[in-house]
Amino acid sequence: MWMGAGRRSWPSQARIFQLHMANSLQTPQLFKPFDGAVGLFDSGVGGLSILRSVRSLMPALDLVYVADSLHAPYGEQSEAFIKARTLALGLALERAGVKAMVVACNTATVLAVKALRAQTQLPVVAIEPAIKPAVSQTRSGVVGVLATTQTTQSQSVQRLCERYGTNTKILLQACPGLVELVESGQHQSDEVHQLLSHFVEPLIRQGADTLVLGCTHYSFLKEMIGLVAGKGVELIDPADAVARELGRRLSLQSMATEKNVDPKALNHESLDAQAQFLHPHGSGTIRLFTTGSISQAQVVMSRLWGEDLVVQSFTDPLT
Ligand code: DGL
Repeated sequence: MWMGAGRRSWPSQARIFQLHMANSLQTPQLFKPFDGAVGLFDSGVGGLSILRSVRSLMPALDLVYVADSLHAPYGEQSEAFIKARTLALGLALERAGVKAMVVACNTATVLAVKALRAQTQLPVVAIEPAIKPAVSQTRSGVVGVLATTQTTQSQSVQRLCERYGTNTKILLQACPGLVELVESGQHQSDEVHQLLSHFVEPLIRQGADTLVLGCTHYSFLKEMIGLVAGKGVELIDPADAVARELGRRLSLQSMATEKNVDPKALNHESLDAQAQFLHPHGSGTIRLFTTGSISQAQVVMSRLWGEDLVVQSFTDPLT
């Protein structure tokens, strides 16, 4: 039935984009909405801390960020669930055309990055608790690791502790509840302060002088963690290191397409220089998506990022 022009509701531009994207994420086809961008994802808004470091190191890169807030927190879910979500998001980004991806979530990395790498040809840069740098920095010989329950219980983290914990005491502290508070925009609340006192003070009493932020959400609690931990305690946030690693992988990727370059001959310094050369100035785009509520994501992400952001809906490839 024909509807009069006045009554006909055309989809908005944003809706058209979402429809295209929903199709392209579910079936392999020509339209690649994220062509040439780098895709980052996390269980929620925590990975914005990595996005910020990537943006400041390589401002000309086009970036796509997906917050899986509908399914946060990952840290209290089963391993099978975290694997399924990581594969769903990573492979959806690949189908949508990204040239590389960053798993901006420690929990997804330690439980699922192996499975993701086995299924994609793209460079996958991932974040895991920075236990090695913490061990080389501590003076007291005691290091605390703040992370999600699943991260602290994972085999990857146990292996890191065995490898680097010979002469250093490594205290793993699960911090349930913190991710939920950051997700709901309460990162500066009394509840956060109370939880942090509960989690951090015992580590300090046991002599920890170095704390690893083993969950990307905790970057946004850095100031409060510092206050609770007290003076002289070093906080280690690997966000900048992850951004540098992404730069190196992109440099390698672009060099691999040029002849006469042996990737084995390249050291970190030359790859860092190449990354700066490839992405010298600002003007890359940042597109933000959530699997959860758009209005909530817009408020919380804008607050964490420090400016007004537009967030779009990410059509979940598993639904
Ligand atoms: N940002 C995630 C991480 O780094 C939080 C995991 C969660 O959702 O519990 O582990």
